[in-house]
Amino acid sequence: MRQATLLFRQPPMRNSPSLIALASLFAMVQPPLAAHASSEPKVEVFSWWTSGGEAAALDALFNVYEKQYAGVEIVNATVAGGGGSAARPVLQTRLSGGNPPDSWQTHPGWELLGQYVEPGYCEPITDLYKSDGWDKSFPKELVVNLMTKDRKIYAVLAGIHRGNVLWYNTKLLQKNGIKVDNKMSFEEFFAACDKLKAAGIPALGVGDSGIWASAQLFENTLLGVVGPKGWTDLFSGTMQWDDPKVKEAMKLFAKMQDYVNPDHSALSWDQAIHALMEGRVAFSSMGDWADGEFLKASMKEKDDFGWVSHPGTDGSFIIVADGFALAKGAPHKEAALAWLKSIGSKEAQEAFNRLKGSIPARTDVDRSKFDGYHQWSMDSFTKDKLVASCVHGEAAPAAFEQALNDGVTAFIVDKNVDNFANALVRAAREFPSTKQP
Ligand code: BGC
Repeated sequence: MRQATLLFRQPPMRNSPSLIALASLFAMVQPPLAAHASSEPKVEVFSWWTSGGEAAALDALFNVYEKQYAGVEIVNATVAGGGGSAARPVLQTRLSGGNPPDSWQTHPGWELLGQYVEPGYCEPITDLYKSDGWDKSFPKELVVNLMTKDRKIYAVLAGIHRGNVLWYNTKLLQKNGIKVDNKMSFEEFFAACDKLKAAGIPALGVGDSGIWASAQLFENTLLGVVGPKGWTDLFSGTMQWDDPKVKEAMKLFAKMQDYVNPDHSALSWDQAIHALMEGRVAFSSMGDWADGEFLKASMKEKDDFGWVSHPGTDGSFIIVADGFALAKGAPHKEAALAWLKSIGSKEAQEAFNRLKGSIPARTDVDRSKFDGYHQWSMDSFTKDKLVASCVHGEAAPAAFEQALNDGVTAFIVDKNVDNFANALVRAAREFPSTKQP
């Protein structure tokens, strides 16, 4: 795969007001105690991969590890909750209490560098990039921009998800005379929604018992309006969060609420995908971990389900990458290093990503081992504009991500564009590094 251009600004790590703000948050918790190292053949891996597709893919990673490093016991520490909404607070408590898992799931960008590296919870793994030739096989821009601080690299990517995908139930659309081409405008999307509404079908499946899922629908819609250049402008402060274009995206997002399944707040993201499979809703805008659910349920590409870029976002790829980091003072350092080496191996990348829906982060895998969706996503990654996700912790500090989630929660109820926009303007002001030129 050729490397595409990543529109991302690295978190400023020195004297950054936002990090000072983050640091003051961390000052409220105890400094980490030294963890006890042990030579037990064991490794504790922390993640939030518990949905059907996620668990199957994680299992594939474990299988490869067990094959490569026989005899090491894997402690699978998971905390359920899509997007890591429940796992991250648990992890934070463990890290600040000096009880780290050996290795944990993290998005690159602000999440890795701001929440884990800056407070000193991670050990660099730069040497693995040299010993295992990863400096040649992983996309340099991602490694340098999203995972490196002071020339030290802090994570290895297991895979790269595309966040801006609109999934659909093929048969349900056919039944309702709706055809989807290889891209979709907002007008086409709403025309389809109206047809479905007239037939009594909630067009858009949302499972936002974790509000991030609705925030993701907004994130995708925002990109559809502002485009990749606007995205960079927003996260660098060149465009303001109350810009007319942002407000336009908010209005479209409000309009979408008219077509959402009424039980959305009772469902998780994967339950919404299951509602789509069962024909109870027609579309769902969700990152391609949804593909993992289709695969797990043995749904057939094109016949049973299809996909297109979220309206207006054709030509852009929202990166939601999954990395793993090494704990400073990891209780089982040797086994943890082996775990990270294993994740970075071709064998693991091929086995894991085929089931997870993401594409391998390594650029030298055998493409022929992947299905149609993966081929499509690999092509998109190669030729499209790459932007970092805010909802999944990459593009902005955690506090801004939280402000976005809170804004979405309020907006779904009051649909007040000015309130939503002003809340984001305030949040961006409080964390000015998201708007440094
Ligand atoms: C992660 C994915 C995961 C999804 C839903 C995202 O933040 O990057 O790996 O499948 O959340 O849980």
